[in-house]
Amino acid sequence: MFIVDDIQTLRARLAEWRRENLRIALVPTMGNLHAGHHALIEHARARADRVVTSIFVNPIQFDRAADLAAYPRTMEADLAQLRDLKTDLVFAPASETIYPQGMVHTTRVVVPQLAEILEGESRPGHFAGVATVVAKLFNLVQPDVAVFGEKDYQQLLVIRRLAAELNFAVEIEGLPTVREADGLAMSSRNRNLNEDERAHASGLYACLRALGDCIRVGERDFDRLQAQTMHMLSAQGLRPDYVSVLDACDLSVPNGRSREIVILGAVWLGRTRLIDNIRVTLMDSYLSPIIRGSSAAGSTPDTQPSTHMRKHT
Ligand code: PAJ
Repeated sequence: MFIVDDIQTLRARLAEWRRENLRIALVPTMGNLHAGHHALIEHARARADRVVTSIFVNPIQFDRAADLAAYPRTMEADLAQLRDLKTDLVFAPASETIYPQGMVHTTRVVVPQLAEILEGESRPGHFAGVATVVAKLFNLVQPDVAVFGEKDYQQLLVIRRLAAELNFAVEIEGLPTVREADGLAMSSRNRNLNEDERAHASGLYACLRALGDCIRVGERDFDRLQAQTMHMLSAQGLRPDYVSVLDACDLSVPNGRSREIVILGAVWLGRTRLIDNIRVTLMDSYLSPIIRGSSAAGSTPDTQPSTHMRKHT
């Protein structure tokens, strides 16, 4: 396994592989690897001849200095796992290698609209930071395929959009969320939870599932369901930031043509912020006559005013 921290060596190694016509997969990470990352790397192995994993805690995607400082860094343990997973190359650059011009004035990639809601609203600048570093990694590695997790659903859509709109010749693949036994989505931030917070953390997934079940049995008053779920989260000792029911294709307000719905949620537990999401396939139309009354069939659901419930603190 090659461990590389500079751009010249990275490019030289990749050029050699490309000369041999090898297919290259990239799995970008911020380290502190867990089974969620492992699944991405295993998938990458199956989809390519060589797997490049990057480990870079990207400072410009953190909106809070305390979050960046608290982000767990476990390079030695990560490298041991990557060896076991038969990663071919680990790219673990220093900040100065990625941002030699400094972080404040660096060129940024901005994805409008999609990156402005939900996480983008709660964490200003976050997605410009993600999009910028991912675009840099795509340029540096020029992978045939790049693998991301659905755990960060909005991030996955932002990356799909930037890849398409900036004409990167890379296939973007999204993999299902890997969870702990109690349903909590695996995340490096789970490490920052104390015992009591950890005991409550799986409530986020449970509440999103309960909302999903309501939609599955035909409820379509999403505003009411979102509000109800916010209350459920609070009752379980979590501080909800948002709960939102949206079209899974593009995070627009669901309408009569929506078939795949995504329910996204973010909560605070002490000083830790957790996000999760689940998807629901609609068997009937959004304008189900059973729920809305057949007279509603001619109305335009696209004009629904509210897309998500957010608690302003
Ligand atoms: P990080 O949080 O380390 O996640 C790296 C990749 O692992 C992302 O694609 C993320 O969605 C995926 N992932 C995390 N937890 C997962 C889980 N429980 N199941 C499946 N996949 C999971 O996301 C980032 O880093 C950064 O924003 C990055 C894309 C690397 C840009 O800096």
